[in-house]
Amino acid sequence: MTKLLVTGGAGFIGSNFIHYVMKKYPSLQVVNLDALTYAGNPANLADIADDPRYTFIKGDICDAKIVAEAMRGCHAVVNFAAETHVDRSIHEGGFFVDTDVRGVFVLCEEARRCKVERFLHISTDEVYGSIDKGFYKETDALNPSSPYSSSKAGGELLARSYFVTYGLPMLITRSSNNFGPYQYPEKLIPLFATNLIEDKPVPVYGDGKQVRDWLFVEDQCEALDLVLHEGTFGEIYNVGSHNEMYNIDVTKAILKILGKGDDLVTYVKDRPGHDRRYAVDITKIGELGWKPKHDFAAGIEKTVNWYVEHEDWWRAIKQKQADYAAWMKKQYGELNKA
Ligand code: NAD
Ligand code: TYD
Repeated sequence: MTKLLVTGGAGFIGSNFIHYVMKKYPSLQVVNLDALTYAGNPANLADIADDPRYTFIKGDICDAKIVAEAMRGCHAVVNFAAETHVDRSIHEGGFFVDTDVRGVFVLCEEARRCKVERFLHISTDEVYGSIDKGFYKETDALNPSSPYSSSKAGGELLARSYFVTYGLPMLITRSSNNFGPYQYPEKLIPLFATNLIEDKPVPVYGDGKQVRDWLFVEDQCEALDLVLHEGTFGEIYNVGSHNEMYNIDVTKAILKILGKGDDLVTYVKDRPGHDRRYAVDITKIGELGWKPKHDFAAGIEKTVNWYVEHEDWWRAIKQKQADYAAWMKKQYGELNKA
């Protein structure tokens, strides 16, 4: 493989992945097709913007013409492009159906036409829905709860159907919650870290006892690289870390690293349709030879310190969030000291 199309590469995981593969494969050419929605940030890739191996194309994955231009000559595709935030999907679900379902269709059609050699579609553990005990396997039924997770379920079903119907060399991953550098400060960990750096309160939804399995983004990049190269076409691979944590314990870990007090924790009303626990069985990707290298303590330390050291990066983003912040205030209530 010499030329790779990455879609959504200006977002959190996509930008980490581009950094990872460009470092690992010195002769790899990368084309990044990204619409630069609110979540896409060219600053995430500023250090490689002038690298001759890297090409950026601003465009929407729903636009067949621009997708054709971006995919020309590419041997493989990795699709990160998506609307990704559950709260925003509750607010305005239409964008999720467009990008997370229709966008996947447009990419698959063009990939079929171009005869790409490999297509890795990034899905999420949220397609399974909540699980009280045990771990979902790749063969379990999908039971998504939010407009985000149901759009992602639709997109990945479509992606797999292109393998079954047309033999498109499709690979799918369903990963747990990622965390690390360059994550947009609307998601739990970067929102809380950046609020706390500013001595602002953090909104814990409901009782704070929801459980997520936190995967450090570097481990995710290694898993995706492995599935892209060694995965079996038509197969789905769970990716997780067995770093299961209650949200309130994640919050306490961030408070501790930053030396802040519990008085900044504010319990707010729960997210509608809030999934209680996500947990995936990672035996299958383990058999490919992958295991995560970061436990939660190591990952959260690195992550929080990154936000401490990159204030310019997140302050520029937070200043632009006024409309969304107003909606969140309406949804979850005024925070004591916001
Ligand atoms: P993100 O929101 O940080 O970035 C999404 C990127 O996609 C942005 O750069 C945005 O500009 C781009 N984009 C959105 N709509 C587009 C469109 N129509 N055309 C082209 N580009 C578009 O997301 P992320 O957290 O990096 O997630 C990447 C992928 O991984 C998503 O598919 C998401 O569902 C999946 N995923 C994320 C997590 C997580 O914890 N972050 C966990 C499991 C799976
Ligand atoms: P999030 O980072 O939005 O990821 P997801 O909903 O896709 O798992 O949220 C992680 C968990 O943190 C989830 O249970 C919701 C909760 N949460 C809060 O309690 N407060 C917040 O302000 C946010 C953004 C999330």
